[in-house]
Amino acid sequence: MGGLLARISGTAFACLAFVFSGAVLAEEVEFTLAERTLILSHGPWPVEIGPDPSNQFSGQPEAVRFGEKLFAENRLSRDVNRSCQSCHVPGLSFTDGLPRSQGISRVDRNSISLANLRLNRWFGWDGRSDTLWAQSIHPILDGRELGATGDLIRERLAKHADLAETYEAITGSAPPDQDPETVLANVGKFLAAYQETLVTPRTAFDEFRDALEAGDEADLAAYPEEAKRGLKTFVGKGNCSICHFGPAFTNKEFHNIGLTFFVDGTRVDSGRFGGFKAFRESRFNRYGPHSDEPQHEAAAAPTNFAAFTHSDWGAFRVPSLRNVARTAPYMYNGALETLVDAVRHYSELNLDRLHADGETLLKPLNLTEGEISDLVAFLQTLSGAPRQVAANP
Ligand code: HEC
Ligand code: HEC
Repeated sequence: MGGLLARISGTAFACLAFVFSGAVLAEEVEFTLAERTLILSHGPWPVEIGPDPSNQFSGQPEAVRFGEKLFAENRLSRDVNRSCQSCHVPGLSFTDGLPRSQGISRVDRNSISLANLRLNRWFGWDGRSDTLWAQSIHPILDGRELGATGDLIRERLAKHADLAETYEAITGSAPPDQDPETVLANVGKFLAAYQETLVTPRTAFDEFRDALEAGDEADLAAYPEEAKRGLKTFVGKGNCSICHFGPAFTNKEFHNIGLTFFVDGTRVDSGRFGGFKAFRESRFNRYGPHSDEPQHEAAAAPTNFAAFTHSDWGAFRVPSLRNVARTAPYMYNGALETLVDAVRHYSELNLDRLHADGETLLKPLNLTEGEISDLVAFLQTLSGAPRQVAANP
């Protein structure tokens, strides 16, 4: 009898405690040691990184300025009617907000936000380049984008004094004195020097991550509870950190996450398969004739050891999630409109669409609506107003 009473009053006490000291106690998020270690591995931010050894103009202020001018320069396009900026709009975090970009004609893929590019190992959704300057040449030559040729670019640079003079001041040669391929490589390098200066700022997540490391209670409390719950799913049962790894939230590799490969219902986008082939065939890469890196060093680059595996078919590069709230729509084909849609994709994953040999890292997460909105709340704390920093030291 006494035992029963004690149990009842114990229950009553627990209820009262819940009512009075409230939701805070009930909701407080605790992280395990393993989760804490993973959270810390997503920083610190920013990551300092030096100039690109394959680009002799990387970090040079005059090349950065010329690159910025060329980035907005319609004269790099065949019809003198569009530029890099048409699909990488500064006010839209250097994307265009469209599912698939529109140049001279429509391309098959979603424009990638240009930020933190010195941290990339590969460029493009399919990793068709291993340097930023080589990646910057593709849209100039692609008939659907700017539609120019090496000869046309050399001719345009030679014809317009404002371009010719700066080109010569930086390279020491007038455009007509160089072969078109070298002119293209140099233009790519100026564009790269500029794009390298675009970085994402510190975010609410970074404040939280550093507070966790320092044990700063006030800063820990400032991070919203729903973001903490979402972060716990991200590093825990969601397994997101396996691929969206490290300070830039990407392992820099290629995976298939069960999206369709079909473009317009008829053609197929082979992803990494085609990208790897294009990369191997290109004369513009780290160990090619236009790289400024000492060749024995370039030959040791991780990209030179990349080998094709059959699971690369239909795989795409793991995108960084920094500033992801500002870069909708999502995925290589822009098929998912919002972050809720992206998280729901992982929750409801269609296993039949994954490779036959299984992308073993992925399984449907079957999240509740609350868990989905928490994960989205976390993803939103990875964004802040983009900014340009001074050229690399
Ligand atoms: C017609 C629209 C369009 C134009 C014009 C365009 N881009 Fe892009 N850009 C894209 C798309 C789409 C992607 C993704 C390409 C892919 O993976 O197939 C992309 C990808 C990139 C990337 C890769 C970023 C990364 O993280 O891998 C860089 C760098 C880039 N563009 C720079 C440029 C530069 C420099 C110019 C001008 C010379 C330019 N772009 C012109 C649409 C465009
Ligand atoms: C197996 C590796 C892998 C795992 C695990 C993974 N992702 Fe991804 N993620 C990718 C790849 C690859 C893409 C690009 C896919 C594409 O476009 O084909 C992507 C794209 C995204 C995007 C769209 C970003 C953009 O700019 O378009 C978001 C958001 C995202 N993932 C969030 C998550 C979350 C949240 C989790 C955990 C629930 C997660 N990812 C788990 C590999 C992974």
